[in-house]
Order: sequence, then structure tokens, then C-alpha cells
Amino acid sequence: MSNYKGKTAVISGGAEGIGFGIAQAMGLQGMNIVLGDIDEAQLVKSKTKLLDQGISVHTVKMDVTDPDQWRSMGEQAIERFGKVHMLVNNAGVASAPGPIEATNHKDWNWVIDVNLKGVIYGAEVIVPLIKSHGEGGWLINVASMAGMIGVPYAGAYTATKVAVVGMSESWHVELAKHNIHVSALCPAFVKTRIHLSHRNRQQEHRDENRVVDPSAAPKHNAAQELVENGIPPELVGQRVVEALNAKELYIFTHPSEREAVQQRSKAIDDAFARAQESPLLADINDKSPTTFG
Ligand SMILES: NC(=O)c1ccc[n+]([C@@H]2O[C@H](COP(=O)([O-])OP(=O)(O)OC[C@H]3O[C@@H](n4cnc5c(N)ncnc54)[C@H](O)[C@@H]3O)[C@@H](O)[C@H]2O)c1
Repeated sequence: MSNYKGKTAVISGGAEGIGFGIAQAMGLQGMNIVLGDIDEAQLVKSKTKLLDQGISVHTVKMDVTDPDQWRSMGEQAIERFGKVHMLVNNAGVASAPGPIEATNHKDWNWVIDVNLKGVIYGAEVIVPLIKSHGEGGWLINVASMAGMIGVPYAGAYTATKVAVVGMSESWHVELAKHNIHVSALCPAFVKTRIHLSHRNRQQEHRDENRVVDPSAAPKHNAAQELVENGIPPELVGQRVVEALNAKELYIFTHPSEREAVQQRSKAIDDAFARAQESPLLADINDKSPTTFG
């Protein structure tokens, strides 16, 4: 019998894109799906698509940047399905790429509020619900390859995704004793509307005077094209099921990125080797390693 059958997943930003791909994949495993999203019209469409496949679904219009709206979604999930077993912290946005001085504070705050605080609030509200029944479960945080390798002209996005990978590593250890498995999903390009994230940008985060000059961020158009030629979100959903079955902490969807991550790991290791050889640090080199976790 499926590990997932009859259990309930709460998915933020699940009305389309990767969140919807995961909703569909988990729903086809027999899970009840609670979809939260800021886009009500898209929620209606996604609900119909899941119902048509025989998947039990409840939708909630919500903004991940508001802890009260998370609490309401958690209450609705319990009311409708009795228990929550899985949280997929998926909602995320990308501001227009640009150099440091062109990324204004409105952009930073929007990206941090949705991609970072949204994940924090989701975890603080939903994880206690998963802990409460003692049956264990799953927490999947949707990070990005940007959480593995810094992306030029996308400092804000990169900062949040590195943070999401870091939190996942913390929580992976912390929640193991509750039998809650934690994963960080790190895709490269997926064919979604992420490059049009501003469509759902909250009023308080908008900057009507913002003029984006694509030539200031040479990778802007290239990134859009890469997203449009990305892998399908349905495949990402299927890959998540496969990786959860294997209890993976890091979930990768693009093996082609392996070499770039190896290069980063090597650069870090080489820097350690130089620190080890530094006469300045000779006295502390023989101390035992600090361990965390
Ligand atoms: N598409 C890619 O290439 C790619 C690659 C790596 C990681 N990701 C990550 O995948 C996740 C999903 O992105 P996607 O590519 O499916 O994008 P998308 O724009 O297609 O979907 C994002 C969903 O989140 C919702 N959303 C946005 N702001 C919200 C808010 N404040 N509250 C609630 N819902 C909100 C949107 O309405 C939308 O339904 C994001 O975290 C993104 O950073 C995407």
C-alpha cells in the first residue's frame, strides 16, 4: 500500500507550476490535497483539474507572508481531512534580475517576504500539526539550484534559496526524531510562469516607478528563455515522489547541474586546504572539529 494513501498534504503556491505538479503527483499517490495560493482564479482551475483525476482537494486563497492566513489554512485542513502529514513550502517569486544597485528595497522585501518568511511561517504553523498526531510525515521546501550556486544578477532570489536549503538541513536533523522527513527540492529551469511572478505581487510590495532595463542584467532574456524551455512541472512532481521514497534530503531534477555543484564544493575544499596551510592558523589546526546537530 502507498505510504501516502489517505494522508494529507498542504501545499503553498499550489495553484500552478511546480506546486501544482507536486499536488498532482501526491494526489495520484492517494493523498488529500490542500492547495493554498494568492491567485484565486487559478485555484479554481487547479481544483477542477485535480477533482477530474479523482483527487480529494480543498483550496484556500492565502498569502504566505501572513502567519494568520497560514493558521487559517491549517485549521481548514484539519476540519476537512482530520490530520496533516505533509507540508510543501513551494510558493516563491523572482524579481526582475539586475545588478546590486538596481535591485531596490521593494524587490528585496518582496522576495524575502514570500520566499523566506513564507517558508518560516509555513513551518511554524504546519509542522506542529504534523507533530501532534505522532504518525510522522514530510516537510518539503522548494529551494532551487540557486540555493546551491549563487546566480549573478539575482542576489535577492539566491539569498532566499540558500536560506531555504540551510533551514532544510537544520530541520532535517531536528525533525528526524518526530519521524518527519525533510527535503530541499533544488530544480534548475522548469517550464512555469516564474518569470511573470509580478502578476501576483501584493500591492504593498509594488513599486509603480520601477523601470527595469533588461540590458543592465545580461542574463534576463536568457533566463526567461531557459524557463520557457525548462522541464515540465509534472515531471518534477513525479521526481519528488521518487526521491521521497528514497528519503533524500536534497532532491535534484537536473543531473546536468552536477558538475557545477562539484566545482563549488571543490572551491570550498580548496579554500579549506589553503587555510590549513596558513601559518597564521597553525595553532588551531590541531583542534578537534566543531560539530553541530
Ligand atoms: N520555474 C523554475 O525554473 C524554478 C526553478 C527552481 C525553483 N523554482 C521554485 O519553485 C517554486 C514554484 O515556482 P514556479 O516556478 O512554479 O512559479 P509559478 O509562478 O508558476 O508558481 C508560483 C505559485 O506561487 C503563487 N504565489 C506567489 N506569491 C504568493 C504568495 N505571496 N502567497 C501564496 N502564493 C503565492 C503564485 O500565484 C503561483 O501559483 C518557487 O519557490 C520557485 O522559486 C522554480
